[in-house]
Amino acid sequence: MSILTATNVEYTYRTRYQTVHALQGVTCSFQPGSAYAIVGRSGSGKTTLLSLLAGLDLPDSGEIAFENVPTTQLDRDKYRREHVSVVYQAFHLFPLLTALENVMYPMELTGARHKEAKEQARALLQQVELPLSVEKQFPKMMSGGEQQRVAIARALASNAKVLLADEPTGNLDSENSKNIIDILLRLAHDEGRCVILITHDNDIAAQADHILRLKDGQVIEST
Ligand SMILES: Nc1ncnc2c1ncn2[C@@H]1O[C@H](COP(=O)(O)OP(=O)(O)O)[C@@H](O)[C@H]1O
Ligand SMILES: [Mg+2]
Repeated sequence: MSILTATNVEYTYRTRYQTVHALQGVTCSFQPGSAYAIVGRSGSGKTTLLSLLAGLDLPDSGEIAFENVPTTQLDRDKYRREHVSVVYQAFHLFPLLTALENVMYPMELTGARHKEAKEQARALLQQVELPLSVEKQFPKMMSGGEQQRVAIARALASNAKVLLADEPTGNLDSENSKNIIDILLRLAHDEGRCVILITHDNDIAAQADHILRLKDGQVIEST
């Protein structure tokens, strides 16, 4: 059964100067335990689709549904807190928090006890293969690859079933990219999460279980 679906989704940006039909009838579905690559040229609608899947915004028409419930009917704040996590190209870690504190943050936000949050955050940092020495470091002291691993560990802190990533390796060298992709694939295959990542890189896309190719706001290939 699909965990997340998009059905005939349309989304238009209207500014004072122009109207952009960013998504024009997008239909796709995503299963737990699989990794999906969303590919397509710049401007094809990838980030727009991801933000609708993340519940950051609603489609103009058509429907995004999580576990068969349309996002228009969901408590979207709860959805974003508990069921879906997003990882960005630019990491977006909290600069004044250490690696460990960054990962603890979402747990403390949802009322976890400090001690438990700390233990769980340590386990998550281990899961993304960060050495213990990184846990007390601030983001600016870490390499890009380390920062992205902390961002993934933080995304996992809520135990979300859906993990979305927008060009997660866009700022990384090829070795670090490979590590990050390996981690994301493992989260899908070993933990049954639904991993959806946007990438420009065809080699990365080829490692995913499925490819969704967008062009001018439409799905032109779906494997
Ligand atoms: N906030 C915005 N306001 C107006 N147009 C936008 C906005 N965000 C994206 N667009 C336009 O929507 C289209 C799809 O953008 P986007 O989803 O970011 O594509 P991608 O991630 O594939 O590069 C592009 O033409 C882009 O210029
Ligand atoms: Mg984009």
